[in-house]
Amino acid sequence: MSDQHVHVAIIGAGTIGLSFAALHLMKDPTCTVTIYDTRTDLQQYVQDKLPGYLVDADQQACVQRLAFASDIDEAVKSATIVQEQGPENLEFKRSLWPEIEKHVPKDALLWSSTSGIAASQQAEGMRDQRRLCVVHPFNPPHIMPLLEVVPSPQTSQDVIDRTLEYWRGRGRAPVVLRKECPGFVANRLAYALFREACSLVAQGVASVEDIDEIVQASMGPRWSVAGPFKSYHAGGGEGGLKSFMDKIGGSIRESWEASEHDVKQYDISMGQAWQKDICQRTEDAYGVINTAERDTKTRKVLAAVGRP
Ligand SMILES: NC(=O)c1ccc[n+]([C@@H]2O[C@H](COP(=O)([O-])OP(=O)(O)OC[C@H]3O[C@@H](n4cnc5c(N)ncnc54)[C@H](O)[C@@H]3O)[C@@H](O)[C@H]2O)c1
Repeated sequence: MSDQHVHVAIIGAGTIGLSFAALHLMKDPTCTVTIYDTRTDLQQYVQDKLPGYLVDADQQACVQRLAFASDIDEAVKSATIVQEQGPENLEFKRSLWPEIEKHVPKDALLWSSTSGIAASQQAEGMRDQRRLCVVHPFNPPHIMPLLEVVPSPQTSQDVIDRTLEYWRGRGRAPVVLRKECPGFVANRLAYALFREACSLVAQGVASVEDIDEIVQASMGPRWSVAGPFKSYHAGGGEGGLKSFMDKIGGSIRESWEASEHDVKQYDISMGQAWQKDICQRTEDAYGVINTAERDTKTRKVLAAVGRP
């Protein structure tokens, strides 16, 4: 893979697809990218939006290596990588791969950016299910380093190895999950915290803004330096995580028990009144978010912790 000219076919160029297109173009000055997307204004849309992703890059040189395809066959026929980020819909993804398989070179890597539809489900109609692997980004992937590599039990070790080699070579942080599971890992962790945040607002413990401030002034910066295990291992002093659990274990258990109780007590399933209320409070607090400002600050944090 390292010596081969890289040609990426991007299938679906919305929020994630355009960000990945920019990432490939910026990280490898020789790679070419072809975009296939069913939107009728595709070229205008890409022309308007892509420059915003190509920060600190030679925009003209990047755009010169970009092409558009009018069908799947044309998009993938000379691809070394096919990266799918169309609608989050099993039927769409399941019908796409056998079609791609008909036209794509036999050694091309096949990746889905899905947030939760396992490769084993997507690959059901494929002739060679060993080829498909989920490569789940954390939005936006042209900035966030993490890529969750989630093979199905059928995905070949060669595909996994070449996927890791590709992303490590571009300074990304691919992590292989050992089993397929709902939500993968990053979102499972993030949504666990989000559930608590919603529950605490719904109970009137803290406001939407208070909870954001609490996270931004504590776990946010801490976790960019050390994840939860390393943090609590450090928090236990010389005795490490064991000592931390011995000392604080009662309080941890009390919090976990309160969480379980609250989840049962307050119906925090989607569509309930709490959801409407929290969405309204968030809207009132922030209006429309300036993602450019968010992205600029995120880049600075990543650079500061050695992940440019
Ligand atoms: N948005 C996120 O935060 C995020 C994060 C990680 C993964 N993902 C995953 O990425 C995928 C795309 O999400 P998104 O947020 O970019 O969605 P999006 O709606 O912004 O983009 C989807 C794109 O697919 C195109 N499309 C629709 N039908 C198509 C078809 N038949 N062939 C080709 N293109 C088609 C649409 O025109 C659109 O541009 C989903 O599987 C989602 O789970 C999203």
